[in-house]
Amino acid sequence: MSTLLTNIAELMTQDMEHRVLKNAAVVIEGERISWIGAAAEAPAADDVVDAGGRAVLPGWVDSHTHLIFAGDRTAEFEARMAGESYSAGGIAVTTGATRNTSDYDLTRLALGRVTEAVSQGTTYLETKTGYGLDVDNEARSARIAATAVDEVTYLGAHLVPDGMDAEEYTDLVCGPMLTAVRPYVRWADVFCERGAFSEEQSRRVLKACKDAGLGLRVHGNQLGEGPGVQLAVEFGAASVDHVNYLSQADVDALAGSWSGDTGNGHRGTVATCLPACDLSTRQPLAPGRELLDAGVPIALASNCNPGTSYTSSMAYCVTTAVLQMRLSVHEAVRAASYGGALALGRESGNDVDGERAVGSIAVGHRADLHMLNAPSATHLAYRPGIPLTHAVWRAGARAK
Ligand code: NIG
Repeated sequence: MSTLLTNIAELMTQDMEHRVLKNAAVVIEGERISWIGAAAEAPAADDVVDAGGRAVLPGWVDSHTHLIFAGDRTAEFEARMAGESYSAGGIAVTTGATRNTSDYDLTRLALGRVTEAVSQGTTYLETKTGYGLDVDNEARSARIAATAVDEVTYLGAHLVPDGMDAEEYTDLVCGPMLTAVRPYVRWADVFCERGAFSEEQSRRVLKACKDAGLGLRVHGNQLGEGPGVQLAVEFGAASVDHVNYLSQADVDALAGSWSGDTGNGHRGTVATCLPACDLSTRQPLAPGRELLDAGVPIALASNCNPGTSYTSSMAYCVTTAVLQMRLSVHEAVRAASYGGALALGRESGNDVDGERAVGSIAVGHRADLHMLNAPSATHLAYRPGIPLTHAVWRAGARAK
């Protein structure tokens, strides 16, 4: 079955050449893109969708979310808006609510959040554990996450649970908990921050998870300068997320990770900016402009979670990145699509074994497409707050 999308006013491919095609068309065959080019030259297909002069972009790749949770933290948010500052301790509130929720309800809640995200143009999602914080509840969160999203990250090292010694808990995270979650996860993460895990504890977690064959990511430099970025680069993590407080040495280390200066044999570390979280916690916005100018690839992600960023809207992140972080529309859309794919190691695919690239529109890539009810992507920033998603294809299937 093939579908021709034609009469596209602007096709923002985010491919390697950064091509933006006018009066374009795309052909979807099964779950993959089989052709792109000028509408006037498009081949015939089984089905035709007239875009009516709308813009088409890659579906958003949301590379940082925490969707496996129950309860909400409205009271904490209200206190924050009244001047309280964010602290990692709120994670314990969500952990309590999550532990008291059945598998059925936790799955239903997670799937509801995925549906909400897809209806706004997100076509590829990562999510994390981290509200279980004991062996059984972390394994359960990982198992449920694997049924709901594309990529699962183990975040047992999110907070030391009440009543536990930090060193003993780190042993658990590196030992029996890791063994229990391992079948369900591709990535591991650690919240390396004051009030969460120290540099030494983070180092132990990253080493154990790397030895277990997991790809790595780090929550770092969210609440103040710290060792998160340097650890991420040292361990060859795929991304370091938050990056609100960076020293020049941090920026240099991230840039160096892409120029082969680390000597650790890894590809570079993406800096993932989470602007919705920054606004909700009243932290300074991550320096996305400065990172790009220094040659560091960035991703934009929603960080959807009940504590610091209760939104799955990638469009909101893109709008903020343009209006407040001084990215161009093209840069912001790229960070929210190709950048997310880069942070998840899914930017290039392999037609042979069926693993397809996501986050950009090119022949052979997964057909993840986002049609806007607007003639260009500029409208995402020009008309802030307006729900512009008109249609979504996820792996070739119409999802909205
Ligand atoms: O990415 N920073 C750590 N984890 C989440 C917040 C978790 C929470 O407060 O519930 C984040 O912002």
